[in-house]
Amino acid sequence: MQPDVSESLNNSESVVLNIVILAAGKGSRMLSDCPKVMHYLSGRPIISYVISTAKELLKSNPGTITVVTGYGSDRVDPLVLDLGCKVVHQDQQLGTGHALSIVLNKLDSVGITLVLSGDVPLIKVEDLMPLLIHGASQLAVLTTNLEDPTGYGRIIRNESGQFIAIVEQKDASKEQLSVSEVNSGVYAGPTALFKKLLPEIQNKNSQGEYYLTDCIELSNRAGEPVITVEGSIEATMGVNDHQQLASVNALHQNVLRDQLLKRGVQMLDPNSVYIFGVVTIGRDVVIEPNVSLNGHIDIGDRVRIGFGSCLSDALIGSDSVIKPYTVIESSSVGCSAKIGPFSRLRPGTDLGDETHVGNFCETKNSRIGAKSKINHLSYVGDSVIGLASNIGAGTITCNYDGANKYNTTIGDDVFVGSNTSLIAPVTINNGATIGAGSVVTKDVGTDELAVARGKQINIPGYSRPKKLEG
Ligand code: UD1
Ligand code: CA
Repeated sequence: MQPDVSESLNNSESVVLNIVILAAGKGSRMLSDCPKVMHYLSGRPIISYVISTAKELLKSNPGTITVVTGYGSDRVDPLVLDLGCKVVHQDQQLGTGHALSIVLNKLDSVGITLVLSGDVPLIKVEDLMPLLIHGASQLAVLTTNLEDPTGYGRIIRNESGQFIAIVEQKDASKEQLSVSEVNSGVYAGPTALFKKLLPEIQNKNSQGEYYLTDCIELSNRAGEPVITVEGSIEATMGVNDHQQLASVNALHQNVLRDQLLKRGVQMLDPNSVYIFGVVTIGRDVVIEPNVSLNGHIDIGDRVRIGFGSCLSDALIGSDSVIKPYTVIESSSVGCSAKIGPFSRLRPGTDLGDETHVGNFCETKNSRIGAKSKINHLSYVGDSVIGLASNIGAGTITCNYDGANKYNTTIGDDVFVGSNTSLIAPVTINNGATIGAGSVVTKDVGTDELAVARGKQINIPGYSRPKKLEG
């Protein structure tokens, strides 16, 4: 019977966890200049998932998280340090055994060492607990059984079923290749044992690397039996190429969608909704197909997000409707607002309650007061608009003179006629009206009517040009 893992680890309060995350490899199979662990999974670098899990473990046990970096460390280190972990450099990637030994050389022989792979992102605390229980007294390896084990190290047992070795794909015999039980690249064991075994690892294999997996044979030989702990396929999936990244991503997207569905969100086609961030969501929200939610998203109650919309770092107030094909970036929308279809809210847009932003309108760095409407074909940038103003179709705030940006200020209850150009800096005061087709270059006073367009001339009896003969 499995011991009650969390309880027993919690009871052993003094167990120090030395968590080591291996992340120095280039990830050649990604065919990319970006270090593998910095590729994105559901909107975040792969390694940040492993670090999150490691940090959760340290909530109940003392210890440290050390990340071994090497290839692309200029890109990996800032993230790792920002997340509060230590960094140790492996200048030459001589293998997983070599990577761990660099860290262990700096550690005291205390507690458990837990080795995580920077490229196995879906591992969770629940998967690690059983491994840690066993790892307190012996070398324990997290394994799983795969229908297609290609690429993974195989778990090799003797006739009596005893776990005797891990053999890498490239070093395996035909018989060994047929084994479906694989190494997840996640290990736990007494720190003192790792420190004893690692110096004995050699690089006599097809890749000329110091394999951490050789610890299994070495431990057995030293009379210290090793054990496998079976984990789920999902938790142990490694990312070595873009096919595997796509598979892990698909799996993780399903987890995130399920979380929203369980919280009561209605999705008409969950598989077409993509979640690349952290979503806070109210009651009775409907998400139509082909929507993507990125970054930090906060959605109130009874909101509808229309087909094909893409939201990034957005706050949407309750009872608002985001109609199809709306793009929102770093912006907030008040309650009972109507946005779209085909609207684009660029960064710094702050829309009040009951605002309307409609067809083919673009806003940027603008605060728009409650009940104001920008319904058709407009650009509003670097502007402040008061309450209940109406911005007519085709209105453009001309905020850029080719060198500098200027502000437009529009008061409450202003009516801007269609096809108006507002040449910033300009102020339109409360209650003002602008005649359609105006090019407004001067401020307009309270309750004034401004008409700034060529006067209409009607010429009677006009005859149109005729087509020339021949
Ligand atoms: C490794 C295991 C394999 C296991 C698989 C599970 C070894 C020899 N093989 O193979 O048995 O089935 O993981 O996913 O350990 N790294 C370093 N320094 C190095 C080499 C690698 O830090 O010198 C890091 C990599 O960045 C990566 C992790 O160690 O995060 C695993 O290395 P990788 O090259 O991906 O090993 P696999 O071939 O997947
Ligand atoms: Ca790997």
